[in-house]
Amino acid sequence: MYSWDAKDYHNSSAEQQKWARELISKLALLGGERVLDIGCGDGKVTAEVAQRLPDGSVLGIDRSEEMIRFARRNFPAKRFSNLAFEVMDAENMSFDGEFDVVFSNATLHWVIEHLPVLKGIKKSLKPSGKV
Ligand SMILES: C[S@@+](CC[C@H](N)C(=O)[O-])C[C@H]1O[C@@H](n2cnc3c(N)ncnc32)[C@H](O)[C@@H]1O
Repeated sequence: MYSWDAKDYHNSSAEQQKWARELISKLALLGGERVLDIGCGDGKVTAEVAQRLPDGSVLGIDRSEEMIRFARRNFPAKRFSNLAFEVMDAENMSFDGEFDVVFSNATLHWVIEHLPVLKGIKKSLKPSGKV
């Protein structure tokens, strides 16, 4: 099991942020969606998704407690009301038909068992949802 230094990641992930921006533009969000960000890390990419959701919201999950602590500190719920973070392993999600979009950047190659993640994504999505 590896561990993440959230501050170090925050300061050295400009490249991952670039990939994320390209992906976010391809999501073609309308602004009212409920989005799940798997492996949200330090939360800065999740916050960029939230900016595109004036009438929607985004939940970032990550299995690293340190990353989630860092994300919550940088993007407190009081100031970012459409943005939330939870510690959760993508291999063990229990959402049920609540997301319009499941998004993930620079994370799925870290996952060990992909099948439970794919099943969890399918179960998390509304019938019309997209990943
Ligand atoms: C390279 S960072 C990407 C962070 C963010 N998505 C970004 O684009 O900057 C990878 C993240 O995936 C998380 N991660 C790896 N395996 C995971 C799993 N099974 N469930 C949830 N998060 C996971 C790590 O803890 C780490 O924060």
